[in-house]
Amino acid sequence: MAGTNIFRTARGENKIFREENALLPDYLPGELPGREHELKELVYCLQPASENRQPEHALLYGPPGTGKTTCARYVLKQLSEYSARPLPIYINCWESPSRFSILSEIADALGEMLPRRGIAADEILSRVFEIAKKDERIPIVVLDEADRLEASADGVQILYDLCRAGELHSLKTAVIAITNDEEFHTRLDARVRSSFVQHTHKFAPYSVPQLKEILQQRASKAFFEGALDAEVVPLCAAVAVNRGGDARVAFALLRAAGKAAERENAAQVGVKHVRATQEEALAASGSKVERKLGTLDELDQKIMAAVKGAGKDGIESGKLYLSLKKMLGDRALRQRIDRLEKTGMLETEFVQIGQGRSRMIRLKLS
Ligand SMILES: Nc1ncnc2c1ncn2[C@@H]1O[C@H](COP(=O)(O)OP(=O)(O)O)[C@@H](O)[C@H]1O
Ligand SMILES: [Mg+2]
Repeated sequence: MAGTNIFRTARGENKIFREENALLPDYLPGELPGREHELKELVYCLQPASENRQPEHALLYGPPGTGKTTCARYVLKQLSEYSARPLPIYINCWESPSRFSILSEIADALGEMLPRRGIAADEILSRVFEIAKKDERIPIVVLDEADRLEASADGVQILYDLCRAGELHSLKTAVIAITNDEEFHTRLDARVRSSFVQHTHKFAPYSVPQLKEILQQRASKAFFEGALDAEVVPLCAAVAVNRGGDARVAFALLRAAGKAAERENAAQVGVKHVRATQEEALAASGSKVERKLGTLDELDQKIMAAVKGAGKDGIESGKLYLSLKKMLGDRALRQRIDRLEKTGMLETEFVQIGQGRSRMIRLKLS
């Protein structure tokens, strides 16, 4: 049957999005308002690499959505455009949580294939370092969500390996470790901590004016001129500030509102579109947590399953301990719960029960 294509009719006149991609979480913006100071610090750390000198290590920490990952990726990109000497390597430790998998990624970036088995990690390490030296490359290794390393037996070791590569292997390299966990650095071995101590930077949650600027700038890429009611950006910024100054939330909200307006063929995105999609968008911005669920080790999965099974009120820590005590001790359980809370998967609360205090543990999946 000839006639107008149904997609053409459905699309109508799209007056809302110019480039919707600009609102997606992985979009790398051309500018980072509000992070000038942090960028400058990173440039200071890495600049020497472009002159074949030893760069400095850095540790970035702060709550989710404060721009840590984006700043690191932005700096790596700029650095690789500026000089061919540094070899930027971005690694998310949820995807590569062990010493071996991280070394494999570095080998990969150097264009080397590692055998999957039959070779000790230490040997892999020297091989990778030898190649980097021979090629005269300076690996700049970003270890994002580095607290995940603590969950695998030899994960944290890679921080030692890389931080001491200069000293022990005369390899120039830098590590940029990133974490949401405020206390991560306090748990590091003194030698590793001291390699980061000069450049341990806290990313503070964004304020309303900062988020407004960030959103405004991105909105001008993402939306056609005039497609946003003037109230929309301030509203998204205010909601996100209530949710811990998380820019990811603000972007999710803005995008969902845009889509809602588009669906009803509205000429403009208005406050009502934000309101209508708020719940949904906030839930979706947490879906990263669900992706994470699949990458947890077996014990963490068991803990999450037990907490989930307890329903929306959660489970008391004593009960959780009883149901898992065949598998892990009290202290180990507490550490795992603390970690799952810090990565935003669980939330806990102390409550008075009878004479004693007890800790209630609930899922936090949004
Ligand atoms: N200063 C900023 N300027 C522009 N966009 C930002 C800024 N900070 C964060 N964003 C955006 O917010 C989202 C979350 O940032 P991200 O770097 O992933 O946060 P974190 O790693 O701290 O959790 C990303 O989509 C990013 O593009
Ligand atoms: Mg991040």
